[in-house]
Amino acid sequence: MNVVSKTSSSRPSDSPTSLSGLQIKKLSVSFQVNKTLVKALDNVSFGVSPGEIVGLVGESGSGKTLTALSIMRLLPPPPTCLTEGFVFFDKKNILNASQKELKALRGIRIAMIPQDPSSALNPVFTVGSQIAEMFRIHMGKNRKQAAHCAIDILKSTGVEDPHKTFLQFPHELSVGQKQRALTAMAIACRPEVLLADEPTSSLDVTVQARILHLIAKLKEQLGFCALFITHDLSLVDPLCSRLVVLYGGQVVEEAPTKEILLKPAHYYTKGLLTCIPGELSFHKTKSLKTIPGKQPTPDHRPMGCIFSPRCPNVRSHCHKERPVLQSISSTRRVRCHFPIV
Ligand SMILES: Nc1ncnc2c1ncn2[C@@H]1O[C@H](COP(=O)(O)OP(=O)(O)OP(=O)(O)O)[C@@H](O)[C@H]1O
Ligand code: SF4
Ligand SMILES: [Mg+2]
Repeated sequence: MNVVSKTSSSRPSDSPTSLSGLQIKKLSVSFQVNKTLVKALDNVSFGVSPGEIVGLVGESGSGKTLTALSIMRLLPPPPTCLTEGFVFFDKKNILNASQKELKALRGIRIAMIPQDPSSALNPVFTVGSQIAEMFRIHMGKNRKQAAHCAIDILKSTGVEDPHKTFLQFPHELSVGQKQRALTAMAIACRPEVLLADEPTSSLDVTVQARILHLIAKLKEQLGFCALFITHDLSLVDPLCSRLVVLYGGQVVEEAPTKEILLKPAHYYTKGLLTCIPGELSFHKTKSLKTIPGKQPTPDHRPMGCIFSPRCPNVRSHCHKERPVLQSISSTRRVRCHFPIV
């Protein structure tokens, strides 16, 4: 099914070149913990060009969801949480946008597939009515047309019986079905930017492949750009053209996907790759490996390089000085005093 041909455009122009992309610059997020501000995201900078899918990867707690929620301006206001930096979209800094401007952006020009499908749907309305509402309110469809579009878009996400799902309440769906319903809602208005936060984490491998294929297909049809958030590096190729690796709230490596998968420059990225099991592994190992130790919480980051307690190549200098993110080629940035070259 061609989702695009069945929906009208809410954009000024259908040309992918009219789309704007995202630029995240020096994004920091701090939380009040025991009356002190603790930095959970630290000076995160990267861009997502029009038509590009960038993978944001890292272990649990690295700051992936915080990055997406900051872009959507869904984090609590100060003093609970302090968000600093810039998120440029369509030449404006979203972090300074008024509530009126945000209303015109969220779910329409920038949409998010949330990480937790269980709490994201409204329990008192049917799934179909929640998806159809997107078409009625934002795409100018009447009730009948909106219902038709909602069923179509549900079908495109791999829901087995879209007519039945349309009439069901969220508690009647499995987690995987909810995740697909939320994907349908996110793409309903043909967003220019899609933030997909672990969109396949509750799905079996067949449906997972279908959702990844759908995102890639929609990117081709609509020319949107996307941030594909995952802890699973086996999912990023060929979907993502570039990867941004987060560790402890900092970008530690950024490069084209193929370069990272074949030759990581940061020891953390290398560790993540060797954790991919068996057939999917890019660095074939006989046994399943893990990265020893744990990612530090924002209030317990070590001095110097924050990966130093877990790094197989740690040297005394690493404990003394925090590495900066530096370019090691025209396409790669890495935060390490002694990158793998
Ligand atoms: N409201 C909050 N108050 C204090 N700390 C928070 C809050 N929300 C998030 N954090 C901290 O920020 C860090 C990053 O959290 P985030 O949810 O972005 O991680 P993630 O990379 O999305 O992890 P996962 O893969 O588990 O979803 C974590 O250490 C988390 O404890
Ligand atoms: S700076 Fe040192 S501890 Fe940190 S990743 Fe590089 S080699 Fe390892
Ligand atoms: Mg998350």
